[in-house]
Amino acid sequence: MLDVARHFMPKEGVLRYLDLMAAHKLNVLHFHLTDDQGWRIEIQRYPELTRTGSWRARTKIGHRASPLWDDSPHGGHYTQDDIREIVAYAAERHIGVVPEIDVPGHSQAAIAAYPELGNSDVIDTASLTVWDTWGINPNVLAPTDNTLRFYEGVLEEVLELFPADAGPFSPFVHIGGDECPKDQWRASDTAQKQISNLGLPDEDALQSWFIRHFDGWLAARGRRLIGWDEILEGGLAPGAAVSSWRGYSGGIAAARAGHDVVMCPQQQVYLDYRQDAGPDEPVPIAYVRTLEDVYRFEPVPAELTGDEAARVLGTQANVWTEVMEDQGRVDYQTFPRLVALAEVAWSDLPDSAERDFADFERRMGAHYRRLDALGVAYRPPTGPLPWQRRPGVLGRPLDGPPPQG
Ligand code: ACM
Repeated sequence: MLDVARHFMPKEGVLRYLDLMAAHKLNVLHFHLTDDQGWRIEIQRYPELTRTGSWRARTKIGHRASPLWDDSPHGGHYTQDDIREIVAYAAERHIGVVPEIDVPGHSQAAIAAYPELGNSDVIDTASLTVWDTWGINPNVLAPTDNTLRFYEGVLEEVLELFPADAGPFSPFVHIGGDECPKDQWRASDTAQKQISNLGLPDEDALQSWFIRHFDGWLAARGRRLIGWDEILEGGLAPGAAVSSWRGYSGGIAAARAGHDVVMCPQQQVYLDYRQDAGPDEPVPIAYVRTLEDVYRFEPVPAELTGDEAARVLGTQANVWTEVMEDQGRVDYQTFPRLVALAEVAWSDLPDSAERDFADFERRMGAHYRRLDALGVAYRPPTGPLPWQRRPGVLGRPLDGPPPQG
């Protein structure tokens, strides 16, 4: 998964990443196209999504607690022709592209473009701009029929641009569903009326209603819904698949309930997390996840039965770009760890503790030369090169091993 919402990656950079993915046999790009900090895909019937929603006036540098700002406006989006080119380029390399339109949270850029999408009986949504900092945002979509109709319009264009037969996983459309704080829904008369009209018990059920709507809507068009594991809360939609990110537990629950799963637990395969405990690591975020940690990642938890394990369709690493302002920073966080992920995903490796990391490291000796030839600005095993450091930019390192979820 590549996040092009927090920092835009121009089309040429995405095509380059597709080449790098193909070189490592990675066959699905989960394309995170919308978030609070930017809307990156042209939707012809809603031009403000990109006219207003694709740029922000300034950007927080580092973790949200950092005092630093980049005061140059940041933005960019893919035209529909760009998207068609990306999807075709991927298909030629046997890669499917799964678009993510994140709802009902992570939507401030859309609300800045179309204020009626927000909870306007709770806050002045007309005064919202595309978000310039990081974290979980309280400004979420209004859970109304109007909002559903708006996103049906968005998805009609998305389905045209990402045909179901373009490549592996192409029937899937990711609708996000993560990190949607319910405070505005609790305070909103409109949302509360919706809860009572629908006969629902609470706000979690309202989110479930929202997601279920798109599950049915996509199924009626021969497509499948996938969402982050929060879509389990309030009841999983019948055809939904789950991206298990808050540990393994969401994926295990979904697999046991007969749903398909993509395993991407943050404790293991969030490539924004720091790669080393050293002081030179640029903008260190969260736990240390070394190349060896990723090499020892087990996508299919041992406690699943054979039938349940068959529900794990695959695994992915997630590249969130809050602190990756350009391609060099994305390369640094992504490589070499994505190489380990590719081997884990495709090889019949022994159990985690028995894996021969020394052998992998030895083979990496040759592979670093290939990455050099490909122009990949990976993290060298000896640590960041001087220009890969970001002295003085605050991160948020966490100590100790990650808590398992
Ligand atoms: C996520 O990391 N919010 C899916």
